[in-house]
Amino acid sequence: MNLSTSVVPDADLVDLQPTPERIAADVVAGLSTSPKRLPSKYFYDARGSELFERITHQPEYYLTRVEIGLLESRLADIAAVVGPRLHVVEYGSGSGHKTELLLAGLDDPVAYTPIEISRAALLHSVARLEGRFAAIEMLPVCADFTRPVSLPQPGRAPRRRLAFFPGSTLGNFDRDESIHLLRAMRDTVGADGLALIGIDLHKETAVIEAAYNDAAGVTADFTLNLLVRLNREIGSDFDVDQFRHRARYSTERSRIETALVSQRDQQVQVDGHTFQFEAGEAMQVETSHKYTDADFTALASAAGWEVADSWNDPEDRLGLRLLARA
Ligand code: AVI
Repeated sequence: MNLSTSVVPDADLVDLQPTPERIAADVVAGLSTSPKRLPSKYFYDARGSELFERITHQPEYYLTRVEIGLLESRLADIAAVVGPRLHVVEYGSGSGHKTELLLAGLDDPVAYTPIEISRAALLHSVARLEGRFAAIEMLPVCADFTRPVSLPQPGRAPRRRLAFFPGSTLGNFDRDESIHLLRAMRDTVGADGLALIGIDLHKETAVIEAAYNDAAGVTADFTLNLLVRLNREIGSDFDVDQFRHRARYSTERSRIETALVSQRDQQVQVDGHTFQFEAGEAMQVETSHKYTDADFTALASAAGWEVADSWNDPEDRLGLRLLARA
């Protein structure tokens, strides 16, 4: 069975969550570089997903709120441009609110495919949506969306496919990874396919930094939860109280750089390896890119797309970009 094309329901569907061996190998590799790094993709265990959901409700974290407002206000225009009878393909299964808005606002969508590595998240998202959208065929795929995915064929032929990747999640990938992912998306949606991407735009540093340093400390808990997860799943011995969350905006690189800073000289054991941390040493855990129109157009073009349409919120905080094949 080809796991990258598994469709639910499928009795043989295998959860593609990474194994402890895979996670340990990634962590050892990341801690062996200078500066040390940990991969942000491991933020999202059950607790991490719950904390991220709480982040989206923090007053400083404008991204989710503004994107939902933008979708609500511009959906009629978007629906008119993309046309009827789409097969909507969502990258990640998200919390569902944006998906519901999109599916409700499009003209007679034929099918919905979330592509998600976690079987549990996939089933949860589809179970929630199928009650509300009985006329839309639910065709979830358990796969790593950074690679091209062979999509299931809906019973009713769609006019074209639309990839949906909201939330500025693209910003969590570095430039090469983003190009690779956008190319894979282009292959997945095929000849006539489109993509609707949410991007966080350049703005005042103080506004961006506040979003990643909320006063209630939820983002700090989210970042530190990565260490809790690693200790539980791969038996590392990070002393969680001896690391602090730090998120700073680099104007040079146009991105938030989130790090966990060691509070003292200390050693950490991971999978038989010992790593030495100095007091004040920063371990990089996440980057969140912010885009100008020129940056994003260049990125899309490097992946074989052109920006066919653009919508921003009234304050130009966040944008939705419709991509078509170049
Ligand atoms: C999922 N992603 C777009 C979030 C972001 O804004 O980079 C993850 C996040 N990290 C800290 N706060 C939110």
